[in-house]
Amino acid sequence: MPVILGIESSCDETSASVCVDGMILSNVIANQTIHEAYGGVVPELASRVHQQNIVPAVQQALLNAKVNKNDIDAVAFTRGPGLLGSLLVGVSFAKAFALAKNIPLIDINHMQAHVLAHFIGDNKPSFPFLCLTVSGGHTQIVLVKDYFDMEVIGQTLDDAAGEAMDKTSKILGLPYPGGPLIDKYARLGNPDAYKFPEPQIPNFDFSFSGLKTSILYFIRDNVAANPDFIQQHLNDICASVEKRISTILLNKLNKAALAYGIKDIALAGGVSANTGLRQGLMALCEKNNWRSFIPKLEYCTDNAAMIAIAGHYKFLKGEFVGQEVTPLARMPF
Ligand code: KG4
Ligand code: ZN
Repeated sequence: MPVILGIESSCDETSASVCVDGMILSNVIANQTIHEAYGGVVPELASRVHQQNIVPAVQQALLNAKVNKNDIDAVAFTRGPGLLGSLLVGVSFAKAFALAKNIPLIDINHMQAHVLAHFIGDNKPSFPFLCLTVSGGHTQIVLVKDYFDMEVIGQTLDDAAGEAMDKTSKILGLPYPGGPLIDKYARLGNPDAYKFPEPQIPNFDFSFSGLKTSILYFIRDNVAANPDFIQQHLNDICASVEKRISTILLNKLNKAALAYGIKDIALAGGVSANTGLRQGLMALCEKNNWRSFIPKLEYCTDNAAMIAIAGHYKFLKGEFVGQEVTPLARMPF
């Protein structure tokens, strides 16, 4: 009955979670609001705030789970990919905790953890399944053959889907992170009001930089003609952008599922919180008689529960790392 403490600090969320025998008992997430004023994450500020948040987040996670720190069997932490300074805070904390308690360390790949969030709770996909992993830094279609046997079969050649959301919101003058706001306004708008281009990229890869430029020019030209264009049409713009981003993602996912003959399809990463994308995947799966797996909102954006559950499965395999472990800004599967 392993008791795992999970630590996540790869970007701008400081999070701690306790997992007992594969059950998540707590998932504390300290969001960093300081970045809003800058329109994006400022790495140096992020690592400083992680330093302030990490100990209270772990204490709260232990308290919520009603678990004593002496009962922890292993510490699982995000090793990468992510911002080096941010990762360093979580890695250092995990190492210090493990050293003090004389327990093993488990290194976790953040992107694998987003996929493994589907193993929290009872409704688990069956191997092999496809997972569309969409965050602020990544857009990947992952063929998941086993817990730690994953192959990226398609990915973005430039911007990530979350970046496209965030950059669009910046163009619209909305605060960072823009994805949740685009989602909110899109619910009130007409997704067919404006047509944005769908890039023609081969295989299962994506590109979002052309879309971003076309949105930029579209807004620039319309604002030149009518300075109140954004305020008057915000809901329709957000609905149309959201629809285009989700159709780009879902069309490729559909193509990959057919090519690989896969019937269990999952979403993961921050952008999987998006209402239009979630509804789109459910409709696609219903149409094809596939099963869709959509994580609970708290497990979509960065969280330590996904690190703790990944840690649980690595613990069962007996895969540990030593105190010499260092964070990796880039960490392939
Ligand atoms: O996985 P995540 O929390 O952090 C990274 O590892 O990047 O993803 C953050 C991204 C941001 O780009 C944010 O705007 C986007 O996820 N996001 C959303 C929504 N919630 C978060 N995008 C669209 N709709 C949402 N509801
Ligand atoms: Zn993430």
